[in-house]
Amino acid sequence: EQHKADIAAYEPDSADTAETFRIKYLGTKGIVKAIMGEMKNVPNEQKKNFGQLLNEFKKFTEEKYELLKAATENTGAASHASFDWTLPGDPFPVGTRHPITMVRNKIVSIFQHLGFAIAEGPEIEDDWHNFGAMNLPADHPARDMQDTFYINQNPDWLLRTHTSSVQARVMEKQKPPIRVICPGRVYRNETISARAHCFFHQIEGLCIDEHVSFADLKQTLYYFVQEMFGKDVKVRFRPSYFPFTEPSAEMDISCLICEGSGCNVCKHTGWVEILGSGMVHPKVLENFGIDPNKHTGFAFGMGVERVCQLKFRVNDLRLYSQNDIRFLQQFTSSV
Ligand code: PHE
Repeated sequence: EQHKADIAAYEPDSADTAETFRIKYLGTKGIVKAIMGEMKNVPNEQKKNFGQLLNEFKKFTEEKYELLKAATENTGAASHASFDWTLPGDPFPVGTRHPITMVRNKIVSIFQHLGFAIAEGPEIEDDWHNFGAMNLPADHPARDMQDTFYINQNPDWLLRTHTSSVQARVMEKQKPPIRVICPGRVYRNETISARAHCFFHQIEGLCIDEHVSFADLKQTLYYFVQEMFGKDVKVRFRPSYFPFTEPSAEMDISCLICEGSGCNVCKHTGWVEILGSGMVHPKVLENFGIDPNKHTGFAFGMGVERVCQLKFRVNDLRLYSQNDIRFLQQFTSSV
């Protein structure tokens, strides 16, 4: 009875009253449990009566708890209504994408708009897909251009030096028309410096169909540069050599870092090379059973790091892989 009086007097005054009440009366060490424990001390003939009283008390307590809980919830609703929604929120740090990822995604989306599909392939390649199929037989001097990491267990295995290997895998499975871009990481055994790294990211493209001409190659790459760098950027093609394309050309764009006045990136020439390209060599087409008299194609390949360097004015390639938060947190806007 005393407990009942106490319970009746319990007022829902503060937010935690309901919880305090629950712990005191209904918790595992609460009063209701304690009284239940007394059962064993009650003489047998009184057990029935005691049990009834106890049940009644328990019900009474539980009902009070429900009331208290409802009351506190209402108080909660009231404070919700009076909450000042104009207060600034608690700040929490948000990560950003790696600049290489941002630039790669942008390049990929530009070519996707032109109808190129994405193709991917393994980073550990065999000699044929990386070199042989690309018109670089074992003794070809141009292999020296791409210092290769070979895999000890098998002399036929290597880390791909370009994503042309993915183009080979596409031509193996698919017949023209082909229009793919191959983004991916590539490896070359170079001494790490501000201008070179032992791995970097490439995006290569391949387009094979009837009547594909060098004009298509140029227009596609013009379009890419304008979308990537804006309409004011100048473009020039220089004749070049790649075993897998004939004719071949390298493409330069006007230097965006110094805007013509001369810097380390363009070596004071005002031009920066951003990609290699050309018409797919007939031998490469023949390697995959594609008739060079019926089908022609163009291919190109660029380094994502270089494009990113021009876009964001990054002066040291090593920054991309050092995970220095001071570098990474600067890339908050999208490209
Ligand atoms: N595979 C060449 C490289 O890695 C780039 C390239 C691709 C050149 C396609 C021409 C055509 O340097």
